[in-house]
Amino acid sequence: AVEQTLSIIKPNAVAKNAIGAILSRFEAAGLRIIAARMLHLSKEQASAFYAIHQGKPFFDELVDFMTSGPVMVQVLEGQDAIAKNRDIMGATNPAQAAPGTIRADFADSFTENAAHGSDSPETAATEIAFFFPEGVCVRTR
Ligand code: CMP
Repeated sequence: AVEQTLSIIKPNAVAKNAIGAILSRFEAAGLRIIAARMLHLSKEQASAFYAIHQGKPFFDELVDFMTSGPVMVQVLEGQDAIAKNRDIMGATNPAQAAPGTIRADFADSFTENAAHGSDSPETAATEIAFFFPEGVCVRTR
């Protein structure tokens, strides 16, 4: 099915000047960027976005990292966009990410793993609404 998914280019990848390289991978795979914004998350925003991970051992480190610099947030649309994005990113733990994936090429650690992507249609809807409460562009093609 044609899906939408939320993608975040994390602060370490932004710091490496890799926004364009990463967005190019999405486009080359046939995903369309239908909304985008750049912002520096507050602790409150990062904690709310990752609320499902509250209480886990890596939570504080994750929030500290995600608020350490600007992030680029985008909505990707396309056939099987959720799975396709996750394939392009590679495994969450970069030590297990396949060669040629975003995390293999741009991650620095499990926390600083360069990109985030929604993991299901339900989380995609919640995460898209979190960053784009006003909605996203309609398809024009
Ligand atoms: P992300 O897809 O952004 O979702 C939650 C993030 O927590 C994950 O990517 C990792 O960057 C980070 N994280 C750090 N340690 C772990 C861990 N042990 N298990 C899962 N996620 C972790």
